[in-house]
Amino acid sequence: MFKRTHTCGELRGDNVNTTVILMGWVHKRRDHGGLIFIDLRDRDGITQIVVNPEIDKIAHKKAHEIRSEYVLAVKGKVVARPEGTINPKLLTGEIEITVEDLEILNESKPLPFSVEDGEEVSEMLRLKYRYLDLRRPSLKNNIILRHKVAKTVRDFLDKKGFLEIETPFLTKSTPEGARDYLVPSRLNPGKFYALPQSPQLFKQILMVAGYERYFQVVKCFRDEDLRADRQPEFTQIDMEMSFIDREDIFPLIEEMMSEIFKKSIGVEIEMPFPILSYHEVMSRFGCDKPDTRFGLELKDITPFASKSDFKVFTEAIKNGGTVRGINAKGCSEFSRKDLDDLTAEVGIFGAKGLAWLKVTTEVVQSPIAKFFKKEILDEIVKIMEGKPGDLLLFIADKPKIVFDSLAHLRLKLAERLKLIDENKFNFLWVTDFPLLDWDEDEKRWVAMHHPFTSPVDEDISLFKTAPKKMRAKAYDLVLNGSEIGGGSIRIYKQEIQKQMFDTLGLSDEEAKAKFGFLLEALEYGTPPHGGIAFGLDRLMATLTKSKSIRDVIAFPKTQKAVCLMTDAPSDVEKRQLKELNIRLDTP
Ligand code: AMO
Ligand code: AMP
Repeated sequence: MFKRTHTCGELRGDNVNTTVILMGWVHKRRDHGGLIFIDLRDRDGITQIVVNPEIDKIAHKKAHEIRSEYVLAVKGKVVARPEGTINPKLLTGEIEITVEDLEILNESKPLPFSVEDGEEVSEMLRLKYRYLDLRRPSLKNNIILRHKVAKTVRDFLDKKGFLEIETPFLTKSTPEGARDYLVPSRLNPGKFYALPQSPQLFKQILMVAGYERYFQVVKCFRDEDLRADRQPEFTQIDMEMSFIDREDIFPLIEEMMSEIFKKSIGVEIEMPFPILSYHEVMSRFGCDKPDTRFGLELKDITPFASKSDFKVFTEAIKNGGTVRGINAKGCSEFSRKDLDDLTAEVGIFGAKGLAWLKVTTEVVQSPIAKFFKKEILDEIVKIMEGKPGDLLLFIADKPKIVFDSLAHLRLKLAERLKLIDENKFNFLWVTDFPLLDWDEDEKRWVAMHHPFTSPVDEDISLFKTAPKKMRAKAYDLVLNGSEIGGGSIRIYKQEIQKQMFDTLGLSDEEAKAKFGFLLEALEYGTPPHGGIAFGLDRLMATLTKSKSIRDVIAFPKTQKAVCLMTDAPSDVEKRQLKELNIRLDTP
């Protein structure tokens, strides 16, 4: 058996004339009559192997049998490639290996798809054969980069005095707004563990225990409807600190992000990050995680719309609604069909229509212009910063519909007008979130972040009188329109935590049953504390410019939360169910 001396990405001109042994997979084989060329690939790279029948007849015979993805051991001499055949695209492109001995370590069936990048292959097939998909250079590079990022984070936080402490997976529900994954307990019939939606309560308890600075690169589990940026199990970079406030956390995180970007992709990011209040991002961008790489900001024309005779606008305002718009700069040439397409886009978010106004040098063109006095139209164009050639788009409805629709429209327009600079990384802190959100279906208050987030000090007295007005000491970190992290300063006084539970409609008994351990711990010298958690998968997707977080996860699940490779979730044996005291309600 051969012993490997180098990887397939390692050899350079300096190694010429040495004898080496490489091992790897047959990436490509080209038979040039006499000479056979093999691109041998391992994790590190690709090296060209030349099998010459005049040097080794047996190796040449074996090379004839070789197919794609066979595993080989190759012994040979490093030679400089002849002039004109140097491949600048390969790190090892200056050299090739003249084979002196070759062994087929293993064969491979013909592949269901090529492991080259750029081939159109259905994602379903790629996920079923994930071990082949993971051989593709782009996916492999993402996985390697993910390791680098996690390593950078660990080194950075270690340097800053953080301890990595593991917290349990078999635990009690931690509310982060999703459903729990439950695990039945065999030893405690009828009882269940919940997989953590985050280590939130354990990290707070670690602060009570006096550990001061905690972090963990940790799996979290949430049973929620999946999208391109959501997985049922995902990884957080989770942190908590004692004796700190927001002003300490922001610079620390900015330094960490700067280190991550420098070390992983060699990009210097601008610091400090801008800080905008929730109120401001909502009114300027219509959402709390705006992509700030382009403008197209929202403008409020409600005061003018209310002075029009356009029923759609006036009725919406009468019903507590608002009228807002976006200036699609230079889009006055949009056709009827373009406008219909945009109307369909906003329809997804409940908008009942999309009113438009084209600004020209003389007048404005619009089916709704007739409902407005000239002065009012002028005011609207002014607020919208409309110039000849612009297309002004408006939606009138309840604020949620207007904001959701325009935020979506803003993104669609930016894509269509190619306003997004893919090489830009725009970070943004969003702060001053409302503490509570009214759940219309359940007719009760829910925590906007989670129930352990502290209200702003001046607002504590509002629990009983004006919960809607309460602001939270919460913050999100947004990067290019993706919420990559969120955290808060926590409640550390038992009395306030009780008021919070009470406002959320939890009786004393329920609070005790669910969070008794926390309420009790809060009585034993809890320091002021706070923290944050980042979605490592989302951060990686942005760093690697991937469309979906599935492209930065080694073994992701589908939108239906299925692992196509292992076929999980799957049936279990009757015996197992019996042991767990579970009877299925399905035939
Ligand atoms: P939060 O619920 O905001 O906060 O989660 C933190 C970050 O985790 C990422 N994330 C996800 N990524 C992929 N798939 C998912 N299903 C998913 N859900 C969330 C997001 C998000 O910003 N305990 C608090 C943190 C704290 O207060 O310290 C928490 O979990 O990028
Ligand atoms: P209608 O009066 O329904 O024919 O609508 C006239 C114009 O107003 C059309 O361009 C509609 O798309 C638009 N429109 C209808 N409802 C709304 C709304 N809620 N907000 C903005 N524009 C609307």
